[in-house]
Amino acid sequence: MRQITFAPVFREWQRLARGALSSGLAPDEVVWEELHGDQPSLGMFEEAEPGIASPASAFRVPRDFVEMAQRVACHRAAERWSLLYRLLWRLTHGESHLMKIAVDPVVHALQRMDKAIRHDVHKMRAFVRFRAVAHQDQTWYVAWFEPEHHIVEFNAPFFRDRFASMHWSILTPHRCVHWDGAHLTFTVGVPKSEAPTEDAVETLWLGYYGSIFNPARVKTRAMEAEMPKRYWKNLPEAALIPSLLREAPHRVEQMIHHSQQKSAEDYSPAPVPETHSLTTLREAASICTACPLYKNATQTVFGEGPRNAEIVFVGEQPGDQEDLAGHPFIGPAGQLLNRALEEVGIDRKLAYVTNAVKHFKWEPRGKRRLHAKPNSREIIACKPWLMAELAAIHPRVLVLLGGTAAQSVLGSKVRVLRDRGQLMHSEYCQQTMVTVHPSSLLRAPDEESRQQGYADFVKDLRIAADLLSKGNPH
Ligand code: URA
Repeated sequence: MRQITFAPVFREWQRLARGALSSGLAPDEVVWEELHGDQPSLGMFEEAEPGIASPASAFRVPRDFVEMAQRVACHRAAERWSLLYRLLWRLTHGESHLMKIAVDPVVHALQRMDKAIRHDVHKMRAFVRFRAVAHQDQTWYVAWFEPEHHIVEFNAPFFRDRFASMHWSILTPHRCVHWDGAHLTFTVGVPKSEAPTEDAVETLWLGYYGSIFNPARVKTRAMEAEMPKRYWKNLPEAALIPSLLREAPHRVEQMIHHSQQKSAEDYSPAPVPETHSLTTLREAASICTACPLYKNATQTVFGEGPRNAEIVFVGEQPGDQEDLAGHPFIGPAGQLLNRALEEVGIDRKLAYVTNAVKHFKWEPRGKRRLHAKPNSREIIACKPWLMAELAAIHPRVLVLLGGTAAQSVLGSKVRVLRDRGQLMHSEYCQQTMVTVHPSSLLRAPDEESRQQGYADFVKDLRIAADLLSKGNPH
């Protein structure tokens, strides 16, 4: 009998299992003993240990075994390692199709573990809720979650990709993961008392949840199945559910009533104060109900940047991330814009960035909120805010990103593809230019057109950058 003591991480087990296989150690001859003191993990982010050569595997195993083994390695049960080795041994000793035999006791046990991990992974993705905390002059988002299994490392790339532009930590009792915008790092678990409990973001999230909650589609049983009560304690929005359910019949009536009213009644003048103070304008816009878009948006997303900015960029409307965070151009389109600005030497911090429409217009598509294009009336209803911003800033260069911004400032005759890159006069700025919206580049059908589209976008922005460097008059 051979005892193999190892740090319980997938890569370590994999390396040692290959060695055991090469030495011809049958499953009954091996005891897999977890080294305590380390946090079980996939070892996905760890460097290979120097000096330990993993024996090149002479054995071929199906890819789905490796994928399943990575997930099962996250399970809490200590016997996972011996079960995995048993399956590995048999796969490499004449039973290469064993993975397909679901009634085999070893395969069955591992598949049950695999299912538990998939479930846990899904729940973490669905139920992690970030709370904003101030951290060294910036906002850090912190979430608390209690997974059933050791899935933090496995799930980390999902959160990194989903929240790439934020700085965040997910704290759990066993392992914590942190993203600083460039690197994922892992630390030991912490008690729940270390997690923040309340903040402004939470208020936003509650607003968001309340607004996406569709009373006409309430399915209480399905809600409970998807969001089991034991997760409710960490979910701020769960506290809203009883009152939302209570109000549902009334809200359905209201929805029917609203849809029967003439849409003209939904529009009123924007309450724009006579001032050049961007702070006052922003506050006034935060309660704007000039068009119906405020009803489904989380908040007004006003422009941002210095009042003495020499250049203003106007987009269409906030997207999903902007709506939740309350800042313009922070999502994927914003990142592309940042990259292009950097390339042409425009410092975004010195520019003012805003949108023609200040509320996120969206349509529900399953659980997602899909961007919907604002119509002419919504653009017109919001235009007084844009005019007030431009009058306050009086920029030397005005860049209109895409058709909605162009229509708002230059009217419906302008054509983005025909007129892009040309200098025009507008009521607000002598050097006004139209170019494409960065999100159109993200929608390009293939890599080649994406690259070409991006190069053309940068070319347009370079014209704006040259104007800035020439110091032309207002
Ligand atoms: N698209 C826009 O037009 N504006 C934003 O703020 C984000 C995406």
